[in-house]
Amino acid sequence: MSKTDLENDGRRSHASSQRNREPIRQVLHRILKPGATVLEIAAGTGEQAVYLSRELQADKWFPTDINPAALESINAWRRHEVNQVLQPAMILDVTAPPESIIADLRDSGANPPAFDAIVCINMIHISPWAATEGLMRLAADALAPDGVLYLYGPYKQNGIHSAQSNADFDMDLRARNPEWGIRDLTDVSALARHHGLEAAGVVDMPVNNLSVLFRKPPADARQG
Ligand SMILES: C[S@@+](CC[C@H](N)C(=O)[O-])C[C@H]1O[C@@H](n2cnc3c(N)ncnc32)[C@H](O)[C@@H]1O
Repeated sequence: MSKTDLENDGRRSHASSQRNREPIRQVLHRILKPGATVLEIAAGTGEQAVYLSRELQADKWFPTDINPAALESINAWRRHEVNQVLQPAMILDVTAPPESIIADLRDSGANPPAFDAIVCINMIHISPWAATEGLMRLAADALAPDGVLYLYGPYKQNGIHSAQSNADFDMDLRARNPEWGIRDLTDVSALARHHGLEAAGVVDMPVNNLSVLFRKPPADARQG
């Protein structure tokens, strides 16, 4: 996947991130009220973060990634757009111990469990399964009651790829790293359920991708 440098100011761009951010906005717009607090995992170049935080009128959007180079690009987009909603990018490895992630989020001005949404675009298939496990654990810990975990990417359903291009992509991913690969929605949903998250919808997206939504139950439902 090729990334491009823009204007030598540190902003990086990725054609697919430019293409998918508006369809993603349309899905998030249906579930997120203006004024939301959002944590983004694996924000990559940051061009989705800068767009979604502005267009969805979030109150605060916390962009994170495991990769320091991604943080540079996210912060460059933030400077370029003078976006007050977008918070400074922070390092976050979803496989790290949950208590250290929560402590780091608090240090950066977030106040978990207070996220109305956790957004994770195109990470699950390009990371070991441990990253999906960490993501679900974090969502259970850091979402506010009734908060939503939003996932975007390609998925198998009942062991079957939705297109030959996804099957080819899966082979390519596994060749690059045997621990990577397109996941089955059944496995991802079972893991979410294991962490107390409820299925909240699946939306077909362009180029054989899905938006997959899970919801943390409201506080009263979890007490009962
Ligand atoms: C294909 S890129 C997607 C970036 C961006 N969300 C997008 O759609 O353009 C995958 C991202 O996952 C991040 N990532 C991989 N493993 C991770 C982990 N354990 N914790 C957090 N981020 C991770 C990578 O650094 C990379 O930025």
